Amino acid sequence: MIINNWYVAAQSSDVGDTPFRTRMLGCDFVLFRNAAGEVVCLSDICCHRGASLSRGACSNGRVQCPYHGWEFGSTGQVELIPSLGPDARIPRRARVDCYPVEERYGLIWAFLGDMPESARPELPELLPEYGDEATWRMTRLQRDWDVHWGRLKENLADASHLFLVHSFGKHLSPEMQIFPVEETAWGVRIPQTYSETPTKDSQVFENVPESDNKRPKSSVLIEISVIGMIQKNTQLMASGYNQVIWNALTPIDDTRTRHFNLHFRNFQMDPRHDESMMKTIDWGLQEDAEVIDHLQPPLTPDNFTDELFIEPDGPEKAYREKALKLGRELGRIDWRRRQEMALEKALVIPSPARRDGGSWIHDTVPLLDD
Ligand code: FES
Ligand SMILES: [Fe+2]
Repeated sequence: MIINNWYVAAQSSDVGDTPFRTRMLGCDFVLFRNAAGEVVCLSDICCHRGASLSRGACSNGRVQCPYHGWEFGSTGQVELIPSLGPDARIPRRARVDCYPVEERYGLIWAFLGDMPESARPELPELLPEYGDEATWRMTRLQRDWDVHWGRLKENLADASHLFLVHSFGKHLSPEMQIFPVEETAWGVRIPQTYSETPTKDSQVFENVPESDNKRPKSSVLIEISVIGMIQKNTQLMASGYNQVIWNALTPIDDTRTRHFNLHFRNFQMDPRHDESMMKTIDWGLQEDAEVIDHLQPPLTPDNFTDELFIEPDGPEKAYREKALKLGRELGRIDWRRRQEMALEKALVIPSPARRDGGSWIHDTVPLLDD
């Protein structure tokens, strides 16, 4: 798992004036809104006796620990210790890690790492469709997978399974056209143009007349970002029936992944079609789960020799290379050591304030020696 990266922590609508708990990269976090309505993301482990802050309550724009009532403010610093009284001097070490947060696309993103702002990788802007309600109808989906994030990410980049795994792909030709993969600062992109419809006399979208799905020319753009763990698939059809499938993946831990999906369509835009559209998307994901829940080994290998790559696997291979390269630059958690240490120590992801020195109660997760 990669630190110093942006991850979706929650839907914006999840976080209000009660503490919201979430687990990312094997660590627990609490999210809440302060008095100004800004989202705050803190390590969930109280520095006093290790209670879970998210099991407490919010008061005065702070989160109050449920055990002895210490109140943590927007920077993670304790601002009130009830047992010392209101005028007491609060020790500097009475603090927990606080992570930079950004709200975008109705989602809350947290930067999980200690890089100073000037060095942080920027979340790529890959979704101009968001908010363009005249052109697109959007639906939102969230799903937890019992699968390693790398396995799921590679599955989303993989087009050669569509004809076999998916009911919507039954008409697709198994033979793949090969398109060059372009490397970007954040990941890889693969623009594809099909001079003919990529399907064999099929319908791509349900409920669209077959004649409308005869496409002399279509384009598909696949963008896979390590930064933000985003995968976007833009399908522009000559018929005019277009869709954009956008996904962000957040590792819950090393074997579970939270998946945030936004789907845009420019057809059947009436909201009454939303439910069936979401069912179709969820059905497709379930078809993937039937296969990828059972891959061996469960963790994506971090090499290219333990599995066989062939030419049509270009996007997955390019993505794996990029994820390894950026992971080594940004920092990767040593999960095995972390599991051993976690029995006796509360381990947290380092936050930017650690760069300023001073001492902290909690140790940070061990990193691989990359
Ligand atoms: S454990 Fe949090 S205030 Fe005591
Ligand atoms: Fe799939």
